[in-house]
Amino acid sequence: MSAPGPGQELVVLVGLQGSGKSTWTAAALAGTHAVVSKDHWPNARRREARQQRVVADLLAEGRSVVVDNTNPAPADRAALIALARAAGVPVRAVWFDTPPAVCARRNEARHGRARVPPAGLYGTLARLVPPSTGEGFSRVDVVRTGPG
Ligand SMILES: Nc1ncnc2c1ncn2[C@@H]1O[C@H](COP(=O)(O)OP(=O)(O)OP(=O)(O)O)[C@@H](O)[C@H]1O
Ligand SMILES: [Mg+2]
Repeated sequence: MSAPGPGQELVVLVGLQGSGKSTWTAAALAGTHAVVSKDHWPNARRREARQQRVVADLLAEGRSVVVDNTNPAPADRAALIALARAAGVPVRAVWFDTPPAVCARRNEARHGRARVPPAGLYGTLARLVPPSTGEGFSRVDVVRTGPG
């Protein structure tokens, strides 16, 4: 395994469905970071382990990585923090502090599979704990998009 490259990082997104994670990632990080999302894979049971393996492999190759899932609870983030630390790579959280009502409205406007059941959104809200450096993040950034 090589040493971490300059500027290399792991970014862990945190935010409700419809909070704007994928839109922001496409604009801010797509050119520089490998985008990983277990939501793109079938087989709910194994995709957590698969995601961790893919992230670890990319970090070992020297790539910067962004994990684009809701990641609402510290337990959802701990393994990612641990593997970044094991690789010697800083791990940054980006929290999408979008009002739940705005997320719900954006979700309503989606079509087909992109629209999640409202219960899914409120289930994520119930588990949501904003990320903190106390969990092991090197840095926490907040993205706020208002009701506009
Ligand atoms: N800053 C913004 N202002 C207004 N609308 C936005 C903004 N960001 C995203 N949206 C819109 O909100 C919807 C949801 O955005 P996006 O797909 O980025 O959310 P997400 O957090 O990735 O959701 P999911 O967790 O379900 O993948 C999209 O229709 C998008 O166009
Ligand atoms: Mg998304």
